Amino acid sequence: MVSRDRRITVVARSVRLVPVLLASALAATACGGGVHGTPGGSGVRDPYFPKAGNGGYDVTHYGLRLAYDPGAHHLTGTATLTARATQDLSAFDLDFLGMEVEKVTVGREAARWNRAGQELTVRPHDDIDRDETFRVTVRYSGAPETVTDPDGSREGWLRTADGALALGEPTGSMAWFPGNHHPSDKAAYDLTVTVPRGLRAVSNGELRGERTERGRTTFVWHCGEPMAGYLATLAIGRFDVGRSAAGDLPMYTAVDPAEAAASRPVLKRIPEVLRWAERRFGPYPFSSTGAIVDRAAEVGYALETQTRPVFPGAPDLTLLVHEFAHQWYGDSVTPESWRDMWLNEGFATYAEWLWEEDHGGRSAQETFDALYSGAHFDTEEAGEEIWEFPPADPPSAARISDPPVYWRGAMVLHKVRQAVGDDRFFSILKGWAAKYRYGNAGTADFTAFAERQAPGADLRPVWDEWLYGDGKPERV
Ligand code: TRP
Ligand code: ZN
Repeated sequence: MVSRDRRITVVARSVRLVPVLLASALAATACGGGVHGTPGGSGVRDPYFPKAGNGGYDVTHYGLRLAYDPGAHHLTGTATLTARATQDLSAFDLDFLGMEVEKVTVGREAARWNRAGQELTVRPHDDIDRDETFRVTVRYSGAPETVTDPDGSREGWLRTADGALALGEPTGSMAWFPGNHHPSDKAAYDLTVTVPRGLRAVSNGELRGERTERGRTTFVWHCGEPMAGYLATLAIGRFDVGRSAAGDLPMYTAVDPAEAAASRPVLKRIPEVLRWAERRFGPYPFSSTGAIVDRAAEVGYALETQTRPVFPGAPDLTLLVHEFAHQWYGDSVTPESWRDMWLNEGFATYAEWLWEEDHGGRSAQETFDALYSGAHFDTEEAGEEIWEFPPADPPSAARISDPPVYWRGAMVLHKVRQAVGDDRFFSILKGWAAKYRYGNAGTADFTAFAERQAPGADLRPVWDEWLYGDGKPERV
């Protein structure tokens, strides 16, 4: 997407006003046939994270070669991104936080770069033409940082007792590799990670290789289906590894030995959860599955990292269902922007209700009623929290994962179900996952999709009162 924000104006103006810069810009492109490109934007206008992502190009593949030494807390990396220019580019940004950049090349030529906050601005030797596919390589090293989110939670690169854990929702992946770190730009990944012998490195997708040489072990991971950067993970440490299958799917689990005994009974149920989810949501979208259970002191949350969710300790079955439901809703169908979080969390929460309904527990209607009355919660305050803002419009970045997004987001889906009936509703759940498989979709896409699937139903009040409306809706 071509995005014009203040930063571009500043760059453009300084090029016009400062002759030295102009001269060097011309010199840099002299053999490339003149200046025709403009800088890509430093963000994609996300309403909550305006600097996340970058304009002017689309990444199709990340090739990451990393080496980490937990003792020294030192990471070295070479990131090779393959991208397609969506405009003529004289410069473009990558999101990258901390670390030290040693060298940047675009194609075969060394490129100039500079850094400001999370923006690594790359000025290639030659301008890049619109629609051209180009390769940018960034060599870097240093001590990767832990990031504090607007809501106070911790992500990015997290140290563990025996290694590290990389988590990226919403913006932490820029702490360990440079990229276009916004959910709207999805790409395939190949990740090669070298760690001291005795430790393992576990990531998304399939393990393609493992070799030990001179005291270090290298793991090669491949994730072929498009993945948003925030869903990339890397766990380094000692793990009990389980290799098995869920139906035809290869399954790889890596569990902190201290959590192994408690995790075993629930992880054994992954194949059953996937079978159920396929019946409800349609075909599983990825080529492998599994889980990572790892303890980082600062992390108390699970994350739906693609193909292989991360749990901060032995999960319970409900949390397992939640993170696996995200594989359809969030990972395969990914929000267009962080405003659309309810498409992730409302769906994953509703999946919990459906699991319960399908396994002899409360019906989704009963769960809905208990939420509406407040009986679901221990305290009155907790019951009131879910009405604080409409799920489709969190008031700030600090609140994109607050209770209204989860609970009331799920209630929106239940209201859709009431309005269209079970048959239509379940075909909407499946159809949504099918239509936007491997892509991105926003809230307006969902409302339009649901309306098209249920032409006779009046969904307006659901959107107006439950999805976009302030306060607790009148019961309808
Ligand atoms: N997406 C996670 C889940 O519900 C929760 C989470 C972890 C999260 N980190 C976050 C949500 C950051 C929003 C922002 O499974
Ligand atoms: Zn979730």
